[in-house]
Amino acid sequence: MMLEDKINELLKEVEDLKAQSAEELEALRLKYLSKKGLVNDLMADFRLVPAERKKEMGQKVNQLKDKVTEKIAQLKEAFEEKADAENKLDLTRTAYPVALGTRHPLNIVKAEIIDIFKRLGFVLADGPEVEDDWHVFSAMNFAEDHPARDMQDTFFVESHPDIILRTHTSSVQSRVMEKSQPPYRVICPGRVYRNEAISYRAHCFFHQVEALYVDEKVSFADLKQVLLYFAQEMFGPDTQIRLRPSYFPFTEPSAEMDISCHLCGGKGCAFCKGTGWVEILGCGMVDPNVLELNGIDSKKYSGYALGMGIERITNLKYQVKDLRLFSENDVRFLKEFEAAN
Ligand code: DAH
Repeated sequence: MMLEDKINELLKEVEDLKAQSAEELEALRLKYLSKKGLVNDLMADFRLVPAERKKEMGQKVNQLKDKVTEKIAQLKEAFEEKADAENKLDLTRTAYPVALGTRHPLNIVKAEIIDIFKRLGFVLADGPEVEDDWHVFSAMNFAEDHPARDMQDTFFVESHPDIILRTHTSSVQSRVMEKSQPPYRVICPGRVYRNEAISYRAHCFFHQVEALYVDEKVSFADLKQVLLYFAQEMFGPDTQIRLRPSYFPFTEPSAEMDISCHLCGGKGCAFCKGTGWVEILGCGMVDPNVLELNGIDSKKYSGYALGMGIERITNLKYQVKDLRLFSENDVRFLKEFEAAN
């Protein structure tokens, strides 16, 4: 075969070259471009080309050489792109990785409190956070100029002196009573506001749960039993309770409840300041004045009420040292409660 035919044949052949791997590609390079490769082989024939055609044939051989080089480079690029894409694909990965959130610790504890009271037949009730003076104070037996109103630092709406941010969920008691006659057995969780300087131990808003039970012949013994049940469900079956006399305008008699310190088992530690007891809630028998103010016959009905801070209960359960953490939305803090979810 003449040199020219050989070159043309090789040019065509090169057109359709394929390689699937680095090894195949290297084999092609050796086959065509190495010292003993097909392109160099043509040199033997080149010597036989008549002088007047040498230039033309020389160019053709060079053209072939360029073409093979270019083709191999092309194949290499395509092959590398493919390998690259394959390396980046981790076929064992989950199809849709979803970053799961966690429930807020206050919500976890709130749900637990509600759950305990639900088992006793309590149902949920709620009222507005922006309230009027009547529901927060007057209907709860805080007299107009009663110093007890100073117990809770109130946020007022400047243009409407009667409208305030509720300072406690006790306002929901009045919201419930004005709607219907007893019996009531309600539990009212919600946010409350107080005009306090923000620090690790106080915030201008926090959360409470209120419980109210009104029926015929409700006694202090009923209250005590519910308190004991709640404390033991929340903090463990060995928990003991103690009631200390206290004062709230809306209950008579009033008490504050302590539980035996669940960290030291009542022996006394830094957490309970060596006393063996920690305070968790306020409670008492609904003051007959409150019943009357809300249109309920206090001769026929009696009841008990209790109120607790959700932050306080959460701190007791999880020892959160700084109240501000609850409202900073730091995911590192929230993630710590993953196990409790
Ligand atoms: N409202 C009270 C407070 O915010 C808590 C409280 C005490 C609620 C005694 C009650 C209760 O229902 O009986 O400090």
